[in-house]
Amino acid sequence: MAEEAILRYLEKNEQISDSGNFAAELGLDHNDVVNAIKSLHGFRYVDAQDIKRETWVLTDEGRKYAAEGSPEVQLFLAVPLEGSIPKDELQKKLAPAVFKIGCSQAGKNRWVEMGKQISRKVQHVEDKVKDLLLWVQDGHAIEKDDINSLKARKLIVQQTWKGYSVSKGPNYAPKRKKVATDLTRENLQSVNMASLFTVLVMVVLFAFHDPMVWLLILQMIFYSGVGDWKELEFKEYNFNAKGQPAEGGHLHPLLKVRKQLKDIFLQMGFEEMPTNNFVESSFWNFDVLFQPQQHPARDSHDTFFLEEPSTTRELPEAYVELVKRVHESGGYGSRGYGYDWKREEANKNLLRTHTTAVSSRMLKALAEKPFAPKKYFSIDRVFRNEAVDRTHLAEFHQIEGLVCDRGLTLGDLIGVLHDFFARLGMSKLRFKPAYNPYTEPSMEIFSYHEGLGKWVEIGNSGMFRPEMLLPMGFPEDVRVIAWGLSLERPTMILYGIDNIRDLFGHKVDLGLIKRNPICRLGMD
Ligand code: PHE
Repeated sequence: MAEEAILRYLEKNEQISDSGNFAAELGLDHNDVVNAIKSLHGFRYVDAQDIKRETWVLTDEGRKYAAEGSPEVQLFLAVPLEGSIPKDELQKKLAPAVFKIGCSQAGKNRWVEMGKQISRKVQHVEDKVKDLLLWVQDGHAIEKDDINSLKARKLIVQQTWKGYSVSKGPNYAPKRKKVATDLTRENLQSVNMASLFTVLVMVVLFAFHDPMVWLLILQMIFYSGVGDWKELEFKEYNFNAKGQPAEGGHLHPLLKVRKQLKDIFLQMGFEEMPTNNFVESSFWNFDVLFQPQQHPARDSHDTFFLEEPSTTRELPEAYVELVKRVHESGGYGSRGYGYDWKREEANKNLLRTHTTAVSSRMLKALAEKPFAPKKYFSIDRVFRNEAVDRTHLAEFHQIEGLVCDRGLTLGDLIGVLHDFFARLGMSKLRFKPAYNPYTEPSMEIFSYHEGLGKWVEIGNSGMFRPEMLLPMGFPEDVRVIAWGLSLERPTMILYGIDNIRDLFGHKVDLGLIKRNPICRLGMD
């Protein structure tokens, strides 16, 4: 509609000097006219120049007074022609804002005598404010002084009006042609009417037995081709168009950091352990790790035990016997814990509380073969019965690395940790003695966080105890150094997230996952 009007107008006129006036004259909506100009301009039917005008429009308050009259006139009209009215009575007659503004304006204009009693000083007033507002509302210009006073009373505000002047463009035509955007199968298949006609003529000639016609027919078919694609006019490419945002999958920050860590382990020559069993028996999660059965972590307040199936079906009996013995009475130079080890406790199924459960299974399998050194890692989910807060969830991911070789020392552990964390961008490390039932010595790992300006705890580590390794069947001089950390902690630091619930779980904003950068380098 607007498009046709523009093209038709330009057929007889040089230009449309102002799209606003053009729209008003034809009774069209200016927005429709602007959209039509933009589209025609895109196909170069028209050239368009921006025009801007500063105009004044009424505020909500201005619009109200334009309809109901200014407060000062409303107040004046509420004062009786003769005599006076008590101030509080007048106040009751008017809206609070109208009374307040009306008093001050009518007083200033010397229309009324203000006091406890209010009376008229003049007999007749004109509502100039209302008239000016109506005038502005209709799009007329008003005097500078009037603009200033209405502006000061916040009854009008300035608005920039944008429109176009339009003239014929290089592709101008009085009617818009429909251009093709795609070459379709139908375009190629449909028969070109001209060539069809020629071929028909040939067939008629053939009927008169002219043998040359055969050749002509073949030639015609070959050269004329078929299809209406020959007549199609194609839309030009718009190389400035932004294109659709790519809506593929988006990797969650945890997955990106996991990939970074996995690459680090692989570069350091570590093999990944199979972690696809969230359900584990207490035996592999705790007992094998020389964690006594009374240890508080084995309480249902800390660990999720399974109701169904509540116990494991099988355990390696000979090995169970060795584990039982080391708990009860020690051996291998240890005194053990000296308590009655219970098989029922070891049988209980749980959601694994650490990936060290996986490490213990892998180490046991390794100990059964002729000894060869190994470097293993895993990154997967673990579960703890925790109160959920800003930094804790009942499930999270652990990163675990271990090195198994003859004669390893605490110095080797410290060296490997420096190498590993430096690759993550954390080169300032400190270690603090700690306690784990399954490692001795044990160390908490701290890293200096440049951004926070302080040391933050980033992991836990140690050398697995002989009470764990020797019952498995490792030669006596084999040592295992190991460390573990959460995947969430470094991810939150790298991506600047301070509430774990914004990172993981049902409250996560999908927008965050779509927007976050492909990778982050460095921990600061
Ligand atoms: N399993 C420990 C934890 O859950 C981490 C750890 C792994 C500690 C290996 C020492 C050795 O925190």
